[in-house]
Amino acid sequence: MANSDYILEMRHITKSFGAVVALSNGCVRAKSGEVNALIGGNGAGKSTLIKILSGYQPADSGDILFNGEKVEINSTVEAQNIGIKTIYQELALFEKMNVYENMYVGRELTIDRKPIKWLKVLDLKAMKQNALNEIKRMGFNIPNIFSKVMFMSGGQRQAIACAKALMGGAPSVLIMDEPTAALGVKEAGEIIDLMKRYRDEGAAIILISHNMRTVFEVASEITVMRLGETVAALKKEDTTEEEVVGLMTGAIENITDGRNMIGEYDL
Ligand SMILES: Nc1ncnc2c1ncn2[C@@H]1O[C@H](COP(=O)(O)OP(=O)(O)O)[C@@H](O)[C@H]1O
Ligand SMILES: [Mg+2]
Repeated sequence: MANSDYILEMRHITKSFGAVVALSNGCVRAKSGEVNALIGGNGAGKSTLIKILSGYQPADSGDILFNGEKVEINSTVEAQNIGIKTIYQELALFEKMNVYENMYVGRELTIDRKPIKWLKVLDLKAMKQNALNEIKRMGFNIPNIFSKVMFMSGGQRQAIACAKALMGGAPSVLIMDEPTAALGVKEAGEIIDLMKRYRDEGAAIILISHNMRTVFEVASEITVMRLGETVAALKKEDTTEEEVVGLMTGAIENITDGRNMIGEYDL
């Protein structure tokens, strides 16, 4: 049975790439209106876990529960259709395309011209206008949507990636994989503010971050992974920066007292 407070739970996920066991027991969950920070050292399996959630790749075993029901997420489109939106660690932008082209690549808007059904005419006007509106709505400063991404700063690129991921309707689950890793303080602040806005509007957020200050500022729950395994799920107020870093590195092997909620994945 699911823990009904959580809109989403990933339970005991495994995933191997050939001989590499990326996940031996990946667990994470998310509650509407809250941030769950997913932390762990490099190679711990964080990105692999959330790529399964966003339909980018399948798990070998384990369950995904959405609103308490088991679901299968077989593609990124299926994930988006149930409201799971993802801002990936590797910015999936095309250097030689401009801003609105990047936002609509693979899902271009077309004008319906009936006589020749197979002839698709791109609706450039609508794509440009929508792209502008989305960027404005999110409060980002992108001076020129006709400029190629290769000429943009890290912060502008991350803003475009966010606008692209969040286009069209509020997410029910928002996954952010190290969204501020390559950014300066001011730009990182803008992305975190955006995340807080979605959180306050009711989205359930999974934030992967190495920045413990951010984690302890925004998260309600902290989920710690080590070597492909989720080792702890702790309420922020029940733990400290020192403790979760110890869990990440293995200096603290485990938390076996009542603070560790990891057993709730078996309820
Ligand atoms: N497509 C892949 N092919 C082979 N190995 C992979 C692939 N994706 C991830 N891995 C491996 O899985 C492990 C976990 O990686 P990852 O999920 O990216 O970790 P994290 O995001 O926590 O740094 C690493 O050992 C990584 O090299
Ligand atoms: Mg990663």
